[in-house]
Amino acid sequence: MNDQADMLRKIVNMKTGNQEIGLPAANSEKKARVITVTSGKGGVGKTNITVNLALALSKMGLKVVILDVDFGLANIDVLFGLVPKYTMLDLIHDEKNIFEVLTDGPDNIKFLSGGSGVEELIRLDRKKLRKFVSSIGLLDKLFDVILIDTGAGLSQNVMSFIMAADEVLLVTTPEPTAITDAYALVKMVSRRDKKKRINILVNKADSVREANEIASKICVVSEKFLSLKLLKLGYILYDENVTKSVKMQKPFSMVNPKCQAAKNITEIAEKLFLDKTHEETEGARGFISKLLSFFGV
Ligand SMILES: Nc1ncnc2c1ncn2[C@@H]1O[C@H](COP(=O)(O)OP(=O)(O)OP(=O)(O)O)[C@@H](O)[C@H]1O
Ligand SMILES: [Mg+2]
Repeated sequence: MNDQADMLRKIVNMKTGNQEIGLPAANSEKKARVITVTSGKGGVGKTNITVNLALALSKMGLKVVILDVDFGLANIDVLFGLVPKYTMLDLIHDEKNIFEVLTDGPDNIKFLSGGSGVEELIRLDRKKLRKFVSSIGLLDKLFDVILIDTGAGLSQNVMSFIMAADEVLLVTTPEPTAITDAYALVKMVSRRDKKKRINILVNKADSVREANEIASKICVVSEKFLSLKLLKLGYILYDENVTKSVKMQKPFSMVNPKCQAAKNITEIAEKLFLDKTHEETEGARGFISKLLSFFGV
């Protein structure tokens, strides 16, 4: 086992005392806050937001892990300029444990690339599945926040990640197509759960005014026609530093911590941090059992 895995195991042992690893006693354990980052339309900034939000939350003292479940293209590693040694597949097939499959990102962040692992879950036998659920359950002890970066669109897979998480961070841009696709996603969610916690974030806005107007419009229409109340999380203005840092394969808040986008993401992290409504979280364990039931396993 490598050093990092050993260190993580020690942390878990510290927190669980004599308790058997992976089987936390009901209600008595700390739980992580699970947030799915998603959008109706692709290319609106989900991955950049996930990475930089993770960094901002980490600066505030929270332990953050990113799960990259974009099946098409795994992007988180590209934005970090890192090549992960293992993916979720190694965990699923029992070859590595959860401590070993997490990759070190900057600033104490860890991430796990889904690879094609999520689709594999459906094919697992009971024994492997139970182990997998226990492994994911360990994330509750190790982390305060789990950010899940999904692909865009209204696929069954993405919907499952949305419905299984405590809350959703729905990203849109001011483009009319992005707005209508975001609304379509809210509509799908509203058919299943009218109380789902959806935070709306407008990215690549030209002005604060434009961002606020768009967020308000989506909120009003969702409440009126879908009876679902959205929460306005904020905005990130269009900032060329984002594109430049993507080319450098570095998070924009690290390349230029004072740039507009970095300021905006810090405000968003503060808002999320101060919001205590998530305290009823079901944690990673609740998340993974819901997810598996949506997958029909
Ligand atoms: N605030 C911003 N200002 C300027 N450019 C931005 C901003 N946010 C994102 N971008 C640019 O938009 C592009 C898409 O960003 P990103 O890959 O994060 O989107 P995504 O939603 O994750 O895409 P996909 O749906 O393909 O996963 C990138 O080239 C990035 O540089
Ligand atoms: Mg992406």
